[in-house]
Amino acid sequence: MKVSLFSTVAICCFFLLSAKSSLILLPDSFIQCLSEYQFSSPNSSVLSVVYARTNTSYQSILDSAIPNYRFLSSSAPKPLAIITPLLYSHVQATVICSRENRLQIRIRSGGHDFEGLSYRSQVPFIILDLRNLRSIRVDIENETAWVESGATIGELYYAVAQESPVHGFPAGTAPVVGVGGHFSGGGNSYLNRKHGLSADNVVDAIVVDFRGRILNKESMGSDFFWAIRGGGGASFGVILSWKINLVRVPPVVTVFRLAKTFKQNAIGLVHKWQYIAPHLPDDLTIAVAIQRFGPLSTPTATFNSLFLGRTEELLKMMEESFPELELSKHDCKEMSWVESALTLSEYPDQFSIEVMKNRSYSPFDANVKLKIDLVQQPLPCVAVQQLWKWCSEVEYPRLQLHPYGGTMGRISESRIPFPHRKGVLFEIMYIESWFNDEDGKDSEKYMNQVRGLYEFMTPYVQSNPRGGYVNGIDLDLGTNGNDPWGASYSKAKASWGSMYFKSNFEKLAMVKAKVDPTNFFFYEQSIPPLLFSSPESRNCRKGNFASV
Ligand SMILES: Cc1cc2nc3c(=O)[nH]c(=O)nc-3n(C[C@H](O)[C@H](O)[C@H](O)COP(=O)(O)OP(=O)(O)OC[C@H]3O[C@@H](n4cnc5c(N)ncnc54)[C@H](O)[C@@H]3O)c2cc1C
Ligand SMILES: *[C@@H]1O[C@H](CO)[C@@H](O)[C@H](O)[C@H]1NC(C)=O
Ligand SMILES: *[C@@H]1O[C@H](CO)[C@@H](O)[C@H](O)[C@H]1NC(C)=O
Ligand SMILES: *[C@@H]1O[C@H](CO)[C@@H](O)[C@H](O)[C@H]1NC(C)=O
Ligand SMILES: *[C@@H]1O[C@H](CO)[C@@H](O)[C@H](O)[C@H]1NC(C)=O
Repeated sequence: MKVSLFSTVAICCFFLLSAKSSLILLPDSFIQCLSEYQFSSPNSSVLSVVYARTNTSYQSILDSAIPNYRFLSSSAPKPLAIITPLLYSHVQATVICSRENRLQIRIRSGGHDFEGLSYRSQVPFIILDLRNLRSIRVDIENETAWVESGATIGELYYAVAQESPVHGFPAGTAPVVGVGGHFSGGGNSYLNRKHGLSADNVVDAIVVDFRGRILNKESMGSDFFWAIRGGGGASFGVILSWKINLVRVPPVVTVFRLAKTFKQNAIGLVHKWQYIAPHLPDDLTIAVAIQRFGPLSTPTATFNSLFLGRTEELLKMMEESFPELELSKHDCKEMSWVESALTLSEYPDQFSIEVMKNRSYSPFDANVKLKIDLVQQPLPCVAVQQLWKWCSEVEYPRLQLHPYGGTMGRISESRIPFPHRKGVLFEIMYIESWFNDEDGKDSEKYMNQVRGLYEFMTPYVQSNPRGGYVNGIDLDLGTNGNDPWGASYSKAKASWGSMYFKSNFEKLAMVKAKVDPTNFFFYEQSIPPLLFSSPESRNCRKGNFASV
């Protein structure tokens, strides 16, 4: 009796609440504000790119950049409106009018956030969707490019290749990922051992700050510019455009993708790989993916590699450093760098590089959960065996082991916010996909399978703090909650803050307080502002009185 009364009340409340949130309309004052904000472009008002809930295109624009089906459910909280700026002034107007009306915004570039934080929130919010701001200007003479944040890395690779066969850029493997999120969170790739992260190669940026001002590297100041190169952009402002240094690549590179089964000693080879891959010459990156494609198949470990040189030299190198892999000439394919980016993205073989410009091509039509660890001591055999066992038990598992070392280890921990440098051997991504779960009722079950493996790995991976990566964002690690005023620096520091940023977290929080003092750029894992921290109080907290 008691129980059913309780559930009746609960159901009532649920309907009241959900009815209430769907009744929250875009405030007239917000529209009024936008209409007054013409800046210098009276011919193109921001109102022409506002999609309110009543608009017939609203749902399709919303869903067209929700690649992770976990967040596609019809009961997911929806924005009051989606704004798709054509001009920088539209972004300025959106920031200013949202702030005046106390509405939160979520900034979406590619939409590939692993927790969907660029398009969902429990509080009334507006999506600022940068899909239309995606021009790319390549300057080969100066070996640089300006790339707007709504561009994808595939569009960037394609544009660079159009201009030069001997230039590339160190950014991730999936062409559909947006440069807005990817560069501001770091950007790890097959060129990391040679050239570091994407963010290590960013040399200027244009942003809109909380006041609606357009700033560049000089006018935003060095702290602001430091923070957006790895600290996650959405805590600090809206990034409109990045200036990057292109890197030189040879006209011909060599790729191999070598799959090993259990019988071919996959487990032993993965174990051995840990002692080799992080210490190879910078020109050679060998990653491993352990995976299984559904309940009817068996796991394999695929060694995926990019060598910045020709096959002959690669074979010599492998014979010396990793003969157990038994790499042969016919496993190796020579190609241009941009073709290697396509091959390593694991798109189906028949695709030409044109597919890199296809923003709607989806690498997986699935629900996805990801977790990340960093590894400083080679995993013992028992841990590698457990990784394999997990891949035999879970239906659609994928574990990616990506080597660091080389340039990654030579860049100082504090140069940009991404801190995982010297001493890190590799990164592990634990990924699980599942299908046909429209109402999300299976999601806890699958997510718990990933969490179980993560728990098991605790003693074997980097600790104090355990490693994390903001581009592999994971709300299991902790959140700010929904209230900007409730965000706690110390709580964040004790969990995801230190895991993603180690000791850079304190500087990020101080920069945050300086460049966004009212915490307008807030989200579930944004950097909380640290208001009071002088050098004295820092030393005081650390108990450092040596100089007194
Ligand atoms: C299939 C796949 C493959 C991946 N491969 C790699 C890889 O090889 N290497 C790697 O390092 N990572 C990889 N990632 C992770 C990827 O780098 C992050 O998910 C990245 O944040 C996605 O950027 P986005 O613009 O597409 O996402 P979004 O969801 O649009 O944004 C991600 C975050 O950045 C914020 N943001 C976006 N644009 C802006 C902007 N203009 N200004 C301020 N804040 C902004 C968003 O608000 C959100 O918090 C991969 C992800 C997927 C799904
Ligand atoms: C608006 O007018 C300016 C100057 O006349 C022009 O450069 C710009 O392209 C126009 N914008 C649009 C969206 O038509
Ligand atoms: C939807 O919004 C767009 C952009 O503001 C506008 O051009 C279009 O006319 C709207 N459509 C409807 C049916 O309201
Ligand atoms: C290269 O940079 C210089 C100096 O900034 C600039 O004057 C020149 O126009 C640039 N070259 C091109 C092709 O844009
Ligand atoms: C892009 O990919 C989508 C999804 O796979 C496909 O339907 C579409 O035809 C592709 N577009 C182009 C121009 O190739």
